[in-house]
Amino acid sequence: MKIGIDKLGFFTPNLYIDMAKLAHARQEDPNKYLIGIGQERMAVIPPTQDVVTMAANAADKILTDDDKKQIDFVIFATESGIDNSKAAAVYLARLLGLSSDIRAIEIKQACYGATAGIQLAKEHVALFPERKVLVIGADIARYGLRTPGEPTQGGGAVAMLIGANPRILMLSKESTYYTQDIMDFWRPLGKTEAMVDGKYSSNIYLEFLERVWDSYQNKTGLALKDFDGLLFHLPYTKLGLKGLRQIIAGADPVLTVRLTQEFENARIFNRIVGNLYTGSLYLSLLSLLHNSERITAGSRIGLFSYGSGAEAEFYSGVLQDTFREGLMKIDYARELNQRREVSITEYEELFNNQLYNVETRKLEYKNDPANFVLTGIEGYQRQYLKK
Ligand code: CAA
Repeated sequence: MKIGIDKLGFFTPNLYIDMAKLAHARQEDPNKYLIGIGQERMAVIPPTQDVVTMAANAADKILTDDDKKQIDFVIFATESGIDNSKAAAVYLARLLGLSSDIRAIEIKQACYGATAGIQLAKEHVALFPERKVLVIGADIARYGLRTPGEPTQGGGAVAMLIGANPRILMLSKESTYYTQDIMDFWRPLGKTEAMVDGKYSSNIYLEFLERVWDSYQNKTGLALKDFDGLLFHLPYTKLGLKGLRQIIAGADPVLTVRLTQEFENARIFNRIVGNLYTGSLYLSLLSLLHNSERITAGSRIGLFSYGSGAEAEFYSGVLQDTFREGLMKIDYARELNQRREVSITEYEELFNNQLYNVETRKLEYKNDPANFVLTGIEGYQRQYLKK
């Protein structure tokens, strides 16, 4: 039985900053951000959006009434949760109008969470092929103003419908994974910004890539030549480029050019959105499918997932004839280009106005054009609205 990604949707708020302007404001050379980090624009998240509203906005774009009837499991992967107890998936299921006869849970393992969600969903569908699972990867990447991590922030949500006979990507059975207790990036309880040992985390990412890629080849017998595209977790796009270069070192030049061109297609959206944490790998998949002219049905795509702390997985899938249908004809390039640029001062104000540890506050949400918004907090309860 074929199981995999049937539909893929994405949402990021309508605001962004220009990375060259951020570089000027931070007395850095713009090329450090544009080339050295590989980011051109960065999503700015207004207080009226959190992981729940972003996930609802992403899922609502792709789900039909029939899909909603078939979903019996919602897996919400995030490391930017809004509650220490209640799962974001429960709010989401209500906002989307899903049946109450479902499981709805939240999972966390840094930027690896959505991949764990997909693998769990695959196993659920293998047992119950007539059912579908909604997997969400939603985050707000926050390191803090004027920190080295600042240019690697961003935010948004990816929604994936996992089912039998998928329209987009049939997932192969085997994958390789690796976990080790490492302090490269973490967010202690009560802190709103991540703590990170930046250089160390980038090195561990590359070390874990080597491990899971080597073991994947040994386990499956597949080799570099069998892949038409390689996707990477992209906390900033230069790190994925380093990963690609590590894998293709010494490979046939024609293959090297082909995989490099596809990597460039796969980072177009990430370059202008920034870091989604756990959704980043799947935004890169969306970017590849939208921007590559060469990738076709039957293409094998490899995916490298990494979550600090640290855990990594390599797996692959085969693109299906119907992959464009699963993208629901949404013109993401146009949506991303229609966002409004905000000044660095406005970005800093929005950054400082996020609702953390607030008991009661009403928000002005009229300027947020998204369908699902956070209108405020009353007695520590988040108030959501579908316009
Ligand atoms: N022109 C071109 N390139 C330039 C340049 C210029 N004028 N100036 C600097 N550069 C290059 C540097 O040579 C460097 O390139 P290399 O990495 O190839 O050496 C790059 O720009 C970055 O410069 P620095 O290393 O000096 O930058 P920095 O010390 O300010 O920090 C960072 C960079 C470590 C990535 C930092 O942004 C950070 O800590 N980010 C958060 C951590 C992170 O994203 N880790 C990734 C793995 S963890 C993960 O994946 C989970 C997750 O999503 C969080």
